[in-house]
Amino acid sequence: MSEPLRPIEWTGSAVRVIDQTELPGRLVRISLDSVDDVVDAIARLAVRGAPQLGAIGALGVVLAMDQGARERWTAPELDAAIDRIRDARPTAVNLAWGVDRVRPRMAQGREAVLAAALGIIEQDERVNHAIGRNGADWIQARVPGRVRVLTHCNTGALATTAWGTALGVIRELHARGALGVVYVDETRPLLQGARLTAWELVQDGIPHLVQADGAAASTILRGLVDVAIIGADRVVANGDTANKIGSVGIALACADAGVPFIVAAPESSVDLQTATGADIDIEMRDGAEVLSWGGVRVAPEQSRAYNPAFDVTPARLISALVTEEAVLEIRAGEVPRDHIGIGVL
Ligand code: MRU
Repeated sequence: MSEPLRPIEWTGSAVRVIDQTELPGRLVRISLDSVDDVVDAIARLAVRGAPQLGAIGALGVVLAMDQGARERWTAPELDAAIDRIRDARPTAVNLAWGVDRVRPRMAQGREAVLAAALGIIEQDERVNHAIGRNGADWIQARVPGRVRVLTHCNTGALATTAWGTALGVIRELHARGALGVVYVDETRPLLQGARLTAWELVQDGIPHLVQADGAAASTILRGLVDVAIIGADRVVANGDTANKIGSVGIALACADAGVPFIVAAPESSVDLQTATGADIDIEMRDGAEVLSWGGVRVAPEQSRAYNPAFDVTPARLISALVTEEAVLEIRAGEVPRDHIGIGVL
C-alpha cells in the first residue's frame, strides 16, 4: 500500500490542495490564499466531498481574516466574505458546519481560529478510521467471505482529509482480507467515480471494476453485489440522506434485491435541524456538464439540461447509517438523537 494520501496542507499563509479536476491525468497541487480562490475552488469542484468542504470552510475563515487584515476590511465586509465561503455550495452541510465551528473563535484571534480549523483536519482522519472499522464490522457480521461492494461517487481521501468514509469502509475490508471486488459507478456527469475513486483504488491495489451508472441496478439484481455503500452530503432528522445524483436508484435496486444499502458519514454530515429530505437544498449545476462530454458539446444546441448534483434517498431504503460512533438502523424514520453528538472522538 502506498503512502496515505492527505489532500489538504496548511502552509502558514495558504491552503494547498489537490486540484481534483486534473485527476487522474495529473496530480497537481494548487494554493488557495484568498476568499475568491476558496469560493472558486469549491464551485468548480477542484475541492469537493462533504468532509473536505468542512475542512476547507474552516481554513477559509482563516484566509478571510488574513485577507481582511491585508485589505483593511470592515467587520461587515469580513462577515460577508465568510458567508460567501459558507454558501459556496448548498447541499453538503459540512461546509456550513466547518465555518460555523471556527467562527465563534474569531473573537479570540486568528491563531485560535487556525487551531480549531487544524483540529478539524486532525479529527477527520480519526473519525474516518472509526467509520471504516464500524462499517466493516457491521458488514462482516452479515456477509461471510470476501465482500463484493458497489459504491457511487468518491468518498475517499480526496473527499475528506484522509482515508475516507464509505471508501474508508472499503479500505478497511481490504486491509482485513475481506474484500472481493468494488463496482465503481462512473458517476456522471463529472465522473468522480471513474476519475477519482478508481484512481484511489489503483494507488492501494484494490480490485475494482468501473461501470456506467446505468449498469448499477442490473449489477445488483443479477446478484453480483453483497452490499452497496455510499457517503452523504446531509443526513437529516428523519434519516433521509442527500448524496450524489444516482444514489437513490442504487437504494431502490438494493431494496428490491434484498441487498444492504449503507450510508457511511461522520456526525458532521448529520443535520438534525432539517426535518426531512424534502427540506434539503439540492444544488443545481450548469447544464453544460450534462450536454457536453470532455468539453465538447454532444447534445443538440437546442437541447437544455436538468442537472441536479444530488438526490435524496428516503430513510426507509437505508439499511444502516455508519458514523464514527455507531451503526444506526434508521429505517424506522428517525436518526436516534442520543447517538449523535456524543463526541467520543
Ligand atoms: O459533488 P461532489 O463531488 O462534492 O459530491 C460528493 C458526494 O456526493 C459524496 O458522496 C459525499 O460528499 C460524501 S464524501 C465523503
